[in-house]
Amino acid sequence: MVNKASFLKEIDFSKAELMELIDLSIQFKGLKEKRISHKYLEGLNIALIFEKASTRTRSAFTVAGQDLGMNVTYLGSGEIQLGKKESVEDTAKVLGSMFDGIEYRGFKQEDVETLSKYSGVPVWNGLTDTWHPTQMIADFMTLKEHFGTLEGLSIAYIGDGRNNMANSLLVTSAILGVNVTIISPKTLQPEQEIIDLAHAHNTGAILTITDDVNAVAGVDMIYTDVWVSMGEEVDFKERIDLLLPYQINSDLLAKTGNDQVIVMHCLPAFHDLNTEIGRDIYEQYGLSELEITDEVFQKYSTTIFQEAENRMHSIKAIMYRSLKRL
Ligand code: CP
Ligand code: NVA
Repeated sequence: MVNKASFLKEIDFSKAELMELIDLSIQFKGLKEKRISHKYLEGLNIALIFEKASTRTRSAFTVAGQDLGMNVTYLGSGEIQLGKKESVEDTAKVLGSMFDGIEYRGFKQEDVETLSKYSGVPVWNGLTDTWHPTQMIADFMTLKEHFGTLEGLSIAYIGDGRNNMANSLLVTSAILGVNVTIISPKTLQPEQEIIDLAHAHNTGAILTITDDVNAVAGVDMIYTDVWVSMGEEVDFKERIDLLLPYQINSDLLAKTGNDQVIVMHCLPAFHDLNTEIGRDIYEQYGLSELEITDEVFQKYSTTIFQEAENRMHSIKAIMYRSLKRL
């Protein structure tokens, strides 16, 4: 049975429910901008579990929780018993008896589902290997802010088509009726199970999976993500060789034939040499930018950082929907 109090994956929700969350996020952003207090969940306690690193998701849950009047406790993976000495099920029962809601970022989707099943409180998926649903509300919120509507939009995701971001964008676009094209080399295209889910939940979008970069023609937005995701053990060189033709650069933008196109990225991004990994890759392979060139990143940085800020407003809406008392 779908647990609607939790927010575990996009397919648990209808188009109307996701649109309601997007609109609520925009309302919360307005309250914050006008500095109108909204401590609607005063006195509640939430726990944030992170088994992988995070800047945006952790900050967004922390600030959103505090803005809503809640007490927020961070539980880093190295500091709690989870996984090493205690099962997810037992951890869920303990945390559920003390906290009113739990955020979880980890590896297996099954773990966040187990946490929700046994904790008895709302659980929010802060990213697993399979889905990144809170990112979706921020992304489609950003699109709605930019274009005024989601109706009739066409988007393309280019790069690693087998990761959480590609999965979530494909399925969420289908639910919302936004045309989506996933552009990846054949070996990195979404798994059939994910494609089937997108078709099963489609409300009228055109869904395209291709290895042809020319498929960006006419799209309103191009999205990309890192070429190697957290927790993946793959040969970086192999990924670079496969994905370099799928980099977002000025040639790719020209292929859209749309001078109003925007570019989005969930971040973090490898677009310059100001990171340790970026410098390592440069030393080993001579590449100073990976999934997006610095030129393109800077050109669209207003939208990309608006998208990052929107993580906070949208996570606030997601937690409020779960915890509000009717
Ligand atoms: N986009 C995103 O989830 O960023 P973090 O990994 O910094 O949370
Ligand atoms: N696909 C990336 C997303 C980061 C927000 C990862 O899982 O590392």
